[in-house]
Amino acid sequence: MQTISDILPLREIRRQWQLDGKVIAFVPTMGNLHQGHLHLVEQAKKVADVVVVSIFVNPMQFGASEDLDAYPRTLEADSAALSALGVDVLFTPKVSDVYPRGLEQQTFVEVPGISYMICGASRPGHFRGVATIVSKLFNMVQPNHAFFGEKDFQQLQVIKAMVNDLSMNLEVHGVPTIRDADGLAMSSRNGYLNAKERKIAPVLYQVMCELADSIELGRRDFSKLISQATEQLNQAGFNTDYVDIRAASSLLPPGHEDTELVILIAAFLGKTRLIDNHSVSLNY
Ligand code: PAF
Repeated sequence: MQTISDILPLREIRRQWQLDGKVIAFVPTMGNLHQGHLHLVEQAKKVADVVVVSIFVNPMQFGASEDLDAYPRTLEADSAALSALGVDVLFTPKVSDVYPRGLEQQTFVEVPGISYMICGASRPGHFRGVATIVSKLFNMVQPNHAFFGEKDFQQLQVIKAMVNDLSMNLEVHGVPTIRDADGLAMSSRNGYLNAKERKIAPVLYQVMCELADSIELGRRDFSKLISQATEQLNQAGFNTDYVDIRAASSLLPPGHEDTELVILIAAFLGKTRLIDNHSVSLNY
């Protein structure tokens, strides 16, 4: 595995791959890799000849109250794990190369509508930061395929909309969430949980599954189901940001014609904000 920090040598390798007719897959990450990320790499390897993984802690997607400096940076361990999986290039660009004119003057990409709701409402500017860095990384790597976890369900929909709206020439793949044995979705943020919080954390998954079962069993009183789930989470020790039921592709409140829904939950355990989601099909 080659580790490259500069954009020009990456472009040079990319050019050679293209001449050799290679299919390129890309997995963008912010590092602190866990099984979920490694699973994305495994999926990427299945469709491509060469795999690029980026590690870049993107300042543009952190809010003023979110601690960018405290974000875990574990490059050595990440690099070893990626190398063991047979990744071709680890791309670790520098903030000063990615945002040479600083964040204030940076041209940005924004996907209206879908970026402002749910997580976007709680974290203003977050999806603008994500859409901007992902488009920049796509321009640097120019992959044929890109892989994202479904755990960040709204992020995935924002990126799919962006790729479609801007006619970007690549295929975006969403990969199902990898969970710990007790159901907790794998996330870099799980590392922030103390022992007591880690014990409570899987209740999020349990409450979400119960809510999904209720809908699949025919309940349609969504507001009541949402209040009950919120109450259950708060009782367990969470401070719930939102529990929502949306149409899976648009993320709008579901209409009568929508049969593919998604339950989306964000809840704080102490200072740690956990998110998760569960698809629900009404076609049964
Ligand atoms: O999901 C993430 O880790 C980040 O939001 C991403 C897609 C790498 C952009 O910084």
